[in-house]
Amino acid sequence: MVEETHEHLFPEGVILVARRDAAEGLDLFPEELQAMSRATPARLREFALGRRCAREALARLGGPRVAIPMGRFRDPVWPSGYVGSITHCQGFCAAAVARTQPESGSCAIRGLGLDSEPIASLSAELAGVICTANECEWLATRQGDGIRWDRLFFCAKGSAYKCLFPTTHRFLEFRDLLVRFDPEHSSFDVQLPNLFGSPSHLLGRYKIRDAVLLAGTWMEESAPS
Ligand SMILES: CC(C)(COP(=O)(O)OP(=O)(O)OC[C@H]1O[C@@H](n2cnc3c(N)ncnc32)[C@H](O)[C@@H]1OP(=O)(O)O)[C@@H](O)C(=O)NCCC(=O)NCCS
Repeated sequence: MVEETHEHLFPEGVILVARRDAAEGLDLFPEELQAMSRATPARLREFALGRRCAREALARLGGPRVAIPMGRFRDPVWPSGYVGSITHCQGFCAAAVARTQPESGSCAIRGLGLDSEPIASLSAELAGVICTANECEWLATRQGDGIRWDRLFFCAKGSAYKCLFPTTHRFLEFRDLLVRFDPEHSSFDVQLPNLFGSPSHLLGRYKIRDAVLLAGTWMEESAPS
């Protein structure tokens, strides 16, 4: 079933399609099936649901119905003229896709990142791996406000990594990225290390709905480097 509950996670021009796991056919292209030849049934299902969401988003943008192969580093390979990102978490799955040359009125998007996480705190040990000292200090000020900010750091950084990867092809540690949340606007800013070809900041938004945290990050064509 398609969910229409995550609108406004991205700027205008980005299409987000979200679905819950359901007993639907796999609907995969031969090269996608080939990439999943050794997958467990559960992994195959989540992969297929991701491709289904992605193709629906592409279709809504007037894009082609094509395979979205898996890149060497598991990154989805989008058809020319499109960027996107896929996430899944406990039966929930979503894909966001945009045109790199949009119609007038929308900003040109160079990269998209989408990540989802269950609403559950991280262990203190894991939070220390994900968050910098400044971020941990900020976390301490938000205790008791009912939001799993530690998990949101994880989610926001995961989305930023996916947004950057197709441009940088660089592995990053969580603490390479500095996230500042703006709870009033459900948004965040990601300060990046000095990486060739990428801007100095990314923008993002988050949503908390139906026991799932969702973070979306985007790179605008004109982002300052
Ligand atoms: C990419 C990564 C963050 C995915 O996060 P996750 O929480 O495990 O899983 P999600 O379900 O949200 O996302 C998985 C999807 O991300 C996409 N993805 C995987 N690797 C990717 C990459 N290198 N670049 C962009 N997208 C990628 C894929 O579409 C994948 O789904 P699929 O295999 O069915 O196509 C993780 O697998 C990874 O590679 N981590 C190493 C780097 C890291 O985490 N550094 C710290 C963050 S800064």
